[in-house]
Amino acid sequence: MPISEKIAEDMTRASWIRRMFEQGRRLKEEHGEKSVFDFSLGNPILEPPEEVKEALRDLVTNSPSGLHRYMANAGDGNARQAIADYLNKEHKADFSHSDVIMSTGAAGGLNVALKALLDPGDEVVVIMPFFTEYRFYVDNHGGKLVKAQSDENFDLDPEELDRVVGPRTKAVIINSPNNPTGRLYSQENLEQLGEVLTRKQSLHGHPITLISDEPYRKIVYDGLKVPSVFSVYPNTVMIVSHSKDLGLAGERIGYAAVSPVHDDRAQLESAMTFVTRTLGFVNAPALFQQVVARCQDASVPVERYQELRDLFCDVLENAGLEYSRPQGAFYLFPKTPIDDDVKFVNMMLQERVLAVPGSGFGSPGYMRLSYCVTKEEIMGAAGAIERVVQNAKNI
Ligand SMILES: Cc1ncc(COP(=O)(O)O)c(C=O)c1O
Repeated sequence: MPISEKIAEDMTRASWIRRMFEQGRRLKEEHGEKSVFDFSLGNPILEPPEEVKEALRDLVTNSPSGLHRYMANAGDGNARQAIADYLNKEHKADFSHSDVIMSTGAAGGLNVALKALLDPGDEVVVIMPFFTEYRFYVDNHGGKLVKAQSDENFDLDPEELDRVVGPRTKAVIINSPNNPTGRLYSQENLEQLGEVLTRKQSLHGHPITLISDEPYRKIVYDGLKVPSVFSVYPNTVMIVSHSKDLGLAGERIGYAAVSPVHDDRAQLESAMTFVTRTLGFVNAPALFQQVVARCQDASVPVERYQELRDLFCDVLENAGLEYSRPQGAFYLFPKTPIDDDVKFVNMMLQERVLAVPGSGFGSPGYMRLSYCVTKEEIMGAAGAIERVVQNAKNI
């Protein structure tokens, strides 16, 4: 076999999302775009805000000399300082530019953090249901994925965390607002996590890093605010991306912020800077570092996603599906009316409605529906969803 056997196996096991994407493409070719209702992807539909376009226009017109050259592996110093200033406002903390490492989206930031932290066999705890790519990111760097169940509301379960965080745990990844559940962890819930990690760290005698993956930090609804993870536990790295909040998914830009009170702050930052180079990123895209540095206060109009959430919740309600109302991100994670989520998602597919089975996120019995779509698509699918639910209930 010309390619790695392991990669070949990963590719066949991998990603329901990809599989649904392929099925969707086939159906669209067969029936036309408008007759297929694709809720399988979280590809941001809102265009970047005016601030991004303005920054781009200005940078292109008045390019400072050297803008496009190689730079420090952690990124441009001025861009990192602008982000540190924003973080100090947002988190009431004391970040300096050296705590900010620019990354190629959250995916790049997560890989950089894990590469810097893990030795072979080190364990990384993830909370189920979880963003499927974590499996591959942890494996990329020789780590072992350990799954912790969330509670019945998809919140962090301190008892479960107490059970799974062990002597080989090097990091815990959380994601709030959450993909796929839309759940936002409260301050109190995060404090419970902080208490478990502080206790486990001193029990096992080595640092455990909390990696807080927050690409949806600004995509929250009903006036809610995401609590700052830095206030609950010192050994924290926050991963931020502008894929969703500035609609820049294709530009691959984000950053990792190491807590200014992390016990191993300088060493971890040096390691993350070094691996940004050795993983082959070298540095995050130069032009977009400058763009996002100017747009830290900007965001896509989140109320548009909230309208789509409300509309889709009504559709699920009318169809008789059980779900909890998302507080952020742009996914719904209802229970499937039959235990076999893969079978149910295939029944939906017969009606040309695409969802991702919960099994793909480590939680069978659920499905993920993305509302990164138009109102017309949600309304267009309403009748079909109702029919499939009725049919499933009659099985
Ligand atoms: C929870 C989570 N983490 C990370 C990512 C990767 O985002 P990025 O485009 O910034 O690499 C995504 C993208 O969907 C995500 O949902």
